[in-house]
Amino acid sequence: MNYDNILTAEHGDGTLRTGVITLHRPKQLNALDDALMDDLGAALRAYDADEGIGCVVVTGSEKAFAAGADIAAMAPLTLKETYGGDFITRNWETLRVIRKPVIAAVAGFALGGGCELAMMCDFIIAADNAKFGQPEIKLGIIPGAGGTQRLPRAVGKAKAMDMVLTARTMDAVEAERCGLVSRVVAPGQLMNEALAAAAAICALSLPSILMAKESVNRAFEGSLAEGIRFERRLFHTLFATHDQKEGMAAFLAKRKPVFEHR
Ligand code: CAA
Repeated sequence: MNYDNILTAEHGDGTLRTGVITLHRPKQLNALDDALMDDLGAALRAYDADEGIGCVVVTGSEKAFAAGADIAAMAPLTLKETYGGDFITRNWETLRVIRKPVIAAVAGFALGGGCELAMMCDFIIAADNAKFGQPEIKLGIIPGAGGTQRLPRAVGKAKAMDMVLTARTMDAVEAERCGLVSRVVAPGQLMNEALAAAAAICALSLPSILMAKESVNRAFEGSLAEGIRFERRLFHTLFATHDQKEGMAAFLAKRKPVFEHR
C-alpha cells in the first residue's frame, strides 16, 4: 500500500516480522490531520490482519514524533463539525482495537495529540531529546484524544494536572522516572532499541503475546477482582496451545523453544 502521510516498512527475518509506521508530514512537524489519521488507521489495520507481522512500531522524525492535532485544520471547526462529525472518535482510535503490540518510538516533540497518540500505544521508548506535553490549554481547549485520562494513569494526578493546566512539557528523563516511558536512549539508538524490543516480541508465541496485551489493558478498566478473573481465564486458556507445551518442554530440556503461534 502507498500512503501520502506515513511511510511503512517491514523489518526482521523470523516467521513474524515488525511493521514500522513512520508519521511523515515533516513541514508540519507531523501535525495530525484527518488524512494522516486515516492513513495511520489503514496501516495499523493492515498490519494487524497480516499473519506475517508480530509487532508494530509507530515513530516520527528526530525533531517531532507529532506536534499535536493539526491546528490549522481545527481552527475553523464548529460544534456541528466536532460533535456532529464525531471528531477524534471517528478516526483516531484505531490503536485501541489493534490486537498486536504497538510500540511508540518517540523523538522530539510529542505534544497534544502527539503525546496522546504515543500513550495509546502499548509502551513508549523515548530518545533523550523527547518532549512530552499537553499544551491544548494555551489554545483555549483541553486535550481531546484521551490526555486527561491516560496521562494521570501513567504519571499520577499531580504531574498530569501540572502538565494539563500549565502546559509545561516533560523531558525524557522525567518521563521515564514517572512511568510515562519505559526506556530512554540516545536519538541515534532509538530505532535500534525499538526494533530490538519488537524483535524480542516477534520471537515469542503470538497467542500468549495477544492475551498478555489484552490482560494488561484490563488493569485500566473495571475492578481489580474482574481484572484478576479475566487474567486467570486467559492464563488457563493458554494451556490449550501448542506453544505452551513447546515452551515448557524446551525449558525442561534446556533448549530453545520453536514457537508455531498456535
Ligand atoms: N498543527 C499545525 N501545524 C503545526 C503544528 C500543529 N499542531 N505544530 C507545528 N506546526 C507547524 C507550524 O505552524 C510551522 O509551520 P510553518 O513553517 O508553515 O509556519 C511548522 O509546523 C514548524 O513549526 P514551528 O515553526 O512552530 O517550529 P518550532 O520548532 O519553532 O516549534 C513547537 C515547535 C513548539 C512544536 C511548535 O510548533 C508548537 O507549539 N506547536 C503546536 C503544539 C500544540 O499546541 N499542540 C497541541 C495541538 S491541539 C491538540 O492536539 C488537540 C487534541 O488533543 C487532539
